[in-house]
Amino acid sequence: MSDFSAIDSAARAILRKNDRGGYTIPTDGLYPYQWNWDSAFAALGFARFDPARAWRELETLMAGQWASGMVPHILFHEPSAGYFPGAEVWGCEGRGPVASSGISQPPVAATVARRLYGADPEAGRAHVARLAPRFLAWHRWFMQWRAEEGMICVTHPWESGRDNAPDWDGAMAAIDPAGVGEYARRDTAHVDPHMRPTRADYDRYVWLVQLGRRLGWDEAALRRESPFRVADPTMSFILLRANRDLLALAGPAGLSPAERREIEGWIAQQEAGMAGLWNTELQSYDAFDLRSRRFGGTITNAAFLCWYAGLGNDAMRAHLERILARVDYGVPSTDPEAPQFDPRRYWRGPVWAIMNAMIGIGLEEAGLLDLARRVRSDTARLIAEQGFAEYFDPLTGAPAGGGSFTWTAAVWLGWAGPGGRDAGRRKAAGEEG
Ligand code: GLC
Repeated sequence: MSDFSAIDSAARAILRKNDRGGYTIPTDGLYPYQWNWDSAFAALGFARFDPARAWRELETLMAGQWASGMVPHILFHEPSAGYFPGAEVWGCEGRGPVASSGISQPPVAATVARRLYGADPEAGRAHVARLAPRFLAWHRWFMQWRAEEGMICVTHPWESGRDNAPDWDGAMAAIDPAGVGEYARRDTAHVDPHMRPTRADYDRYVWLVQLGRRLGWDEAALRRESPFRVADPTMSFILLRANRDLLALAGPAGLSPAERREIEGWIAQQEAGMAGLWNTELQSYDAFDLRSRRFGGTITNAAFLCWYAGLGNDAMRAHLERILARVDYGVPSTDPEAPQFDPRRYWRGPVWAIMNAMIGIGLEEAGLLDLARRVRSDTARLIAEQGFAEYFDPLTGAPAGGGSFTWTAAVWLGWAGPGGRDAGRRKAAGEEG
């Protein structure tokens, strides 16, 4: 437990093992391609011991950008038989420079780029100059196609990165997946089915992919026709944070005054829009279904990203304190007092290291240091005691899902472990000085 250098080495070994030459897969077997936000976190981990490789990870990710600005949630660099739905199901041939899915994922990349740049501005300048226009185009795509009343919506649960969170239950129930046809899941061959989404969920995931394909992944058509359009706290908070970080990089990246004003405009629009995610009944940030005009009605770990976005309030702090008092390991992905809570099932209860990292960073920046310490030490304890699992049971700490997971290793190196803490401190000191 206390041999931190052994854990550091194990974490590095996982990143090296999952490295496919310029991009890192989340874990062998279950997820054999480049995933968008996983990749951004991988860069955070590489930054501890190989900064050049960290920049390269961001560059391979952004190289998959479509002409529309969209950056896909999966880049299928090389064929792999063990995954469903693969490139042929998405039907995005010719849309982007790399075979890909047709949806995006939370834009963590600009935030990671800011951290890499802060650690070594001299080495980072050229990278930032190359990447910032791509980040800008991606964020612009979100603001053009996914901003609704200043909230950012998703068109598929997979896009949120929190596949089966209770946030989507209402919108998913409204979908009739008739005609979805036969398909063979691959995830349940790698992992215990009790830890994965249900069959009913999966039918709807596939049905939504078929709809997107039928509409040619045309965002205007999706906005008009898809039954699934939900304003998402993950996407909203992470994009707001990413816009702030992109603005901070505007100088070294050489963005024009007009581009800076554009980003400032997005930030103002998003700050105003956050009121739409506030569920007064729940007294919490919540997902909001734009079709039914109903809230999700359950507090999830995504709501606690508010501080990461520079927001946050006493009600959210009270919820976090209440929830942390009920579990040995925070932060559970679903409120343990909610009927949907299921400590082993993916985004309906388990703890995810990456969410903890963002929640913890936000708490620390907001000066909520006791809470920040609790979230960080729970994360470090989970990893030290249980290894680099995909996610963990918040009641027992038991590891769940896939093993040797890239982003869990990266979070240890870049934030939760003692080396990550020091890196964070050095950066803060550097920025103040
Ligand atoms: C699952 C997660 C998603 C992640 C992907 C690869 O789909 O829900 O957030 O990006 O796996 O790790």
